Order: sequence, then C-alpha cells, then structure tokens
Amino acid sequence: MLKVNKNYLNLPGSYLFSTIAKKVAAYKEANPDKVVISLGIGDVTQPLSPSVIKALHGAVDEMGDKETFKGYAPDLGYEFLRTAIMENDYKARGCDISADEIFVSDGAKSDSGNIQEIFDVSCRIAVCDPVYPVYVDSNVMAGRTGLYNESTGRFENVIYMPCTADNGFSPEFPGETPDLIYICSPNNPTGTAMGKDKLQEWVDYANNNHSVIIYDAAYEAYISEEGVPHSIYECDGARTCAIEIRSFSKNAGFTGVRLGFTVVPKDLKDSEGTALHGLWARRHGTKFNGAPYIQQKAGAAVYSPEGKAEIRALVSYYMENAKTIKDALADAGYTVYGGVNAPYIWLKTPDGMKSWDFFDRLLNDAALVGTPGSGFGPSGEGYFRLTAFGTHENTAEAVKRIKEISL
Ligand code: MLT
Repeated sequence: MLKVNKNYLNLPGSYLFSTIAKKVAAYKEANPDKVVISLGIGDVTQPLSPSVIKALHGAVDEMGDKETFKGYAPDLGYEFLRTAIMENDYKARGCDISADEIFVSDGAKSDSGNIQEIFDVSCRIAVCDPVYPVYVDSNVMAGRTGLYNESTGRFENVIYMPCTADNGFSPEFPGETPDLIYICSPNNPTGTAMGKDKLQEWVDYANNNHSVIIYDAAYEAYISEEGVPHSIYECDGARTCAIEIRSFSKNAGFTGVRLGFTVVPKDLKDSEGTALHGLWARRHGTKFNGAPYIQQKAGAAVYSPEGKAEIRALVSYYMENAKTIKDALADAGYTVYGGVNAPYIWLKTPDGMKSWDFFDRLLNDAALVGTPGSGFGPSGEGYFRLTAFGTHENTAEAVKRIKEISL
C-alpha cells in the first residue's frame, strides 16, 4: 500500500521563507505601485567578484575543449579545492584538518539538512531557540523529534536551549544530555557570536557527554572581533566531537552559484567506535555526484590573493549596511543586537508587539520585508530580523521607512 513518510506531516506550516514569499507576493499583487524592499531572507545583492567571474569563464572554456572537458566531479570534491580550503580555512588558523576530511557540496543548507541522516533515529537533538529552521525540520522528516505541540511551538523530543537577551543569546548547557547539538556561530538569526572560551566549554561538554556538535560556521567571514573563533577546530578536542559546515554563499555571494563544504574529522566516532567520516563519505557517494567543476573552480578563486581581497571588500560592504541599520534603529529607540560579527540585526519589536504583527505592519505601512523572530522558534517571539545583505541604497531607504512609520 502506498504511504507517504508520515514524519513530513509533523512539520508545522510551510517553510518560513516560503511563507514570507507568499505574503510578499500577495502584497505586491494588491499594491502594484509600491516598491517593496526586502531585508528578509539573507540573500546577497552584490555581483560575484572579478576573480570569481574570471574563474567561471575559464572553467566554462575548459568544458568546451575536448582536452580539458570534465565529466562527473569526484563526489567528495576536487583536490585543488579541498587543498585550498585546508590551507586557508584551517592550517592558516592552526587547525589540524586534512584535505580528505573536507567534503565539498552544493551548499550549507543541503549539508545542514542531510548530516542528520548518519545518526540513529533515537539520537536526541539540542537546538538553540531561535534557530535556523532547517536543523529541526530535517530531524522532523527523519522521525527524530516526536510530536509538535501547538501551544508551546515545540517538538516533544527536541531539547531547546533558549537564547534571549537575558542570556546574551548564548545557549546554556541543557538539563538533559543531547546526542547531537546544533550550534550556529556567528548566529543566524540573532547575529551574535560565541567567544572562543564559551565554545571551548561546549567542546568539553560534548566530549564529556559523548555528544556531537554540528557547527554551522556559514557566517564566519563576518567575524570582526578578536576572541571569536572562525572554526570550532580552533578549540582543543574538537576533532573528537565536532562536524563543521561552511558555505561560499555569504562570504563570496554564491547563493545562486551553490557551493559549500562539511568537515568530518576521522577521529569522530559513535559510542560503539564507528567512524562518522566513512558514513558521510558513503552517503556522498550514493546520493551526490559532486559539486560542478565550474563552481569548484570559482570556489578556488576565492582563495587567491585577489579573491581574498575582493571577498573582504564584499563583507565590508554588507557590514556597512549592518552599521547603518543598527545605528539608525538605535537612534529611533529600538533595542538592537547583532550586526558586529554577523550580517544580521536582531531587534526587539516595539511595545512587545508580536513578531508577525510587526512583519505585517512593516509590509503594509512601509513596503518593507523582514523576518519575524517567532518564525525561528518560540524564544524568537517579540524579536525581528533584518539582513545587511541589501544594497546601500535600499538599506538607507529601509531604515528611513522604519523611522517614518508610526507605531
Ligand atoms: C536566511 O535568511 O536565514 C538564510 O538566507 C537562509 C539560508 O541560508 O538558507
């Protein structure tokens, strides 16, 4: 008898950014004269940098030449890219990661959704609340989370670690021991980042409890402060307890190009001594035919001296927006967080307004799109996220509009 995977029926509503897109489409249809500005989904607006474009053209030309044409890519990634990642992202920061522990993929979203597959369905997950929805949703699909409780907005088998202004948006060790701990730093959505000492405490906690940390470092290029680690492998002992996920989307603007990678150290084992590295390699081999050569050449260009300088300029461009938003909103009396080590501003809604009410208000009165904090989890209620990924012009116009609406 044909049956669907019933776990999917446990997913509450539609995916956050799909819900927002539908609301915005309806608004645009009803208000064709309005110019809508989106500081909602964290999508980049600046073109790819010259080195990346040059590498893309070069790779396309190679594909058109019978001497240099490439078919399937190696499913774990081309050596030239894995080596560049190892040298620049890890060895240069003193992290002991080898090229064959790096798995190149089509992006961090896929990896952060798929990585849970190599763990048993009985594993308990712990997530920050608020949280990037992919972590929880993918575990719901796998049947790991139990039932959804409408009134609490939580799944019965998930351990939630509230991150609010009261604890500086930093997760505290949970009462129950999780098997898998998702940590995103710099954080989406709160825009805050964990310091090295705190992350070291989490690494020690995970090693002591035989848990695995799934560390999402997609926003590491935005770190501006000393003492904030760019990789979890800067912490002692992380090789035995941490998987790290990275992206080229937010540093190099590859949201439409697609490229990322995941690091699974060979020392990482489950409680029976089975190495996770082999399982993830097997999963890649079966379900993935490798990120395209063209994209991987573009990724390697990000690590060239010119590429690095261009990427620094891109990051600075967006961080100017973060400052514009943060300063203007603070000036207008809003309480604002983030925006220093991350391209997200996390603000308290005025007068305790519900996050979705504030969303509607901004859309209807200012033709401005942001992301309601409650969409990231119950502890996000009363907060709102704006991205710094707009253009300078749109960002300036957006803050002007926010200041103008009467609340
Ligand atoms: C976001 O807006 O949270 C991100 O753009 C989503 C993503 O990277 O998938």
